Amino acid sequence: MTDKVLVTGGAGYIGSHACKALRAAGFEPVTYDNLCTGWRQAVKFGPFEQGDLLDRTRLDEVFARHQPVAVMHFAALSQVGEAMREPGKYWRGNVSASLSLIEATLAAGVRNFVFSSTCATYGDHDGVVLDETTAQTPLNAYGASKRAIEDMLKDFGASDGLRAVIFRYFNVAGADPDAEVGEFHQPETHLVPLILDAIDGKRAALTIHGSVVAELMSFRDSRRESGGLRACHEQARTCPLPYDQLEIL
Ligand SMILES: NC(=O)c1ccc[n+]([C@@H]2O[C@H](COP(=O)([O-])OP(=O)(O)OC[C@H]3O[C@@H](n4cnc5c(N)ncnc54)[C@H](O)[C@@H]3O)[C@@H](O)[C@H]2O)c1
Repeated sequence: MTDKVLVTGGAGYIGSHACKALRAAGFEPVTYDNLCTGWRQAVKFGPFEQGDLLDRTRLDEVFARHQPVAVMHFAALSQVGEAMREPGKYWRGNVSASLSLIEATLAAGVRNFVFSSTCATYGDHDGVVLDETTAQTPLNAYGASKRAIEDMLKDFGASDGLRAVIFRYFNVAGADPDAEVGEFHQPETHLVPLILDAIDGKRAALTIHGSVVAELMSFRDSRRESGGLRACHEQARTCPLPYDQLEIL
């Protein structure tokens, strides 16, 4: 029987590409998504279960139906401006929602967990090359909510043996070379699509305040996420520590 992986946010930009990569790696991705920023038509590589992470009854039902071997957690609110205006939305929609998911994961007996975090957890470190050990000093509720989820994963690793792999991305850019899925954020806040829209005449201009040094990751790199899953399995066999961090730059 094909192993299933529960992919939260599988109807979104990165989650839908992860589903494709999982399918290619021999897993069956089960998308769990409330479609608040995602798209039903992006769910092409496995079953779709509509639901909100805060709905614990629905989560338990989905875990019981599919019995996944692992969870990949992409579902989140991720607009920095909105997070600064409405921090409560981010603490509830990211932190409380992730706690609900982690508890449902453990209750279902699943111990492998891949979490899509962000380099917004670092804040500003001028002139410093960031690595996994750089201090995390987020500047807004988006980054702070993601750092809090990382902390939760460490705590549940120590208490319940949850094996978590964390990816802290910079901007992700590009789309599936087969054009089966792509980026369709509304509103769009990411640099590369905004540049392309300006070139295409869809927006009058693109104004950058200050200087921008962008770290971009393409989907060829992000497919290493299915590698994250392998890292979980590998840890289970070889590593006494319940917790690990990986970073893609
Ligand atoms: N896109 C980037 O450049 C980037 C960079 C760093 C980190 N990330 C992180 O990667 C993840 C995915 O980003 P994305 O660009 O694909 O975002 P996205 O908005 O395209 O996808 C997020 C998905 O999660 C779903 N969702 C949100 N809240 C939910 C909830 N409570 N319950 C169920 N589903 C919910 C949305 O409907 C959407 O389909 C996010 O966690 C984000 O913080 C993205």
